[in-house]
Amino acid sequence: MSVAKASAPGKLILFGEHFVVYGMPAIATAVEGRTSAEVRRADRYSLVDDRPETPGYKREKGGQQAESIKLMFKAMGLDASKASIALGGDLVAASGVGASGASCAAIAAAANAEFGLGLSREEINDVAYEGEKGYHGTPSGIDNSCSTWGGFIWFKKGDSGGKSEIRPMESKGRFSIVVGNTGITSNTTKVVEDVKAQMERDRAKFDRIFEEYLRMSGEARTALDGNDLHGIGRLMNENHALLREIGVSCKELEEMVEASIGAGALGAKLTGTGRGGLMIALVTDDTKAKVASAIKGTGFKSEITGIGAEGVKVIR
Ligand code: MEV
Repeated sequence: MSVAKASAPGKLILFGEHFVVYGMPAIATAVEGRTSAEVRRADRYSLVDDRPETPGYKREKGGQQAESIKLMFKAMGLDASKASIALGGDLVAASGVGASGASCAAIAAAANAEFGLGLSREEINDVAYEGEKGYHGTPSGIDNSCSTWGGFIWFKKGDSGGKSEIRPMESKGRFSIVVGNTGITSNTTKVVEDVKAQMERDRAKFDRIFEEYLRMSGEARTALDGNDLHGIGRLMNENHALLREIGVSCKELEEMVEASIGAGALGAKLTGTGRGGLMIALVTDDTKAKVASAIKGTGFKSEITGIGAEGVKVIR
């Protein structure tokens, strides 16, 4: 019996979560942890999800996952009731690491191979984007794009349904990232809606924040291209301050950010949706162990992760 298998990396947003939803540029990198998806033709639908997870994540996202798979198969012109899907890999499914985007890209690529659709990488990304809609209503598309293309990407959402700009970046990211995990699964749809409601209440405040972020995002791109670690770190701190102002941080994220800076990180910020999920700290070889253990000292899990990983690929 035939079966196709593909894998895709998770992502970390270095700059611009939430701002990206409003058409501002954001920068993300693919991480070394990957989600694999096996897809085979079958008489009836089945899904086995063996991904490692932050406790509760898969239960919390189960309904959205079913909707996401339905949307992707529809976009590919396939009948999901005739497919058996198995998810695995070493990416720990958690809020903030693009677990849904990685699984969408891997499922789309495996289904493309199993059903011989001949989709290009760009089309696989379009299918994965449809899948992301099952998880969070109006996704910007940065997560699935990063999982599909890999490396470092500069991303700008298309205006009113138009094509998004996705530019691979030169950056080789000659630095390390420590990831701290609150263990809290956040609800992206709800947090994105809350930010929008706040913006509608206080347009002047958001105009100022958006203007500051726009300046910062240009500087961040230059700093990353030049591997200017002090510049990248400073801008991460500034980006975190803006995210705090729009109300998407929380006390657990603040504790870890503060502990990282205290232990010598060049910069630290929340990453992804916020109000739970993950934070990242920019570290050098000299500081990475110290920062990772300072985060653990606050009572949360931390890990040093490789970045700039390869995008979605078919394994067999
Ligand atoms: C989620 O990883 C990033 C957000 O900006 C939402 C999105 O881009 O769709 C919060």
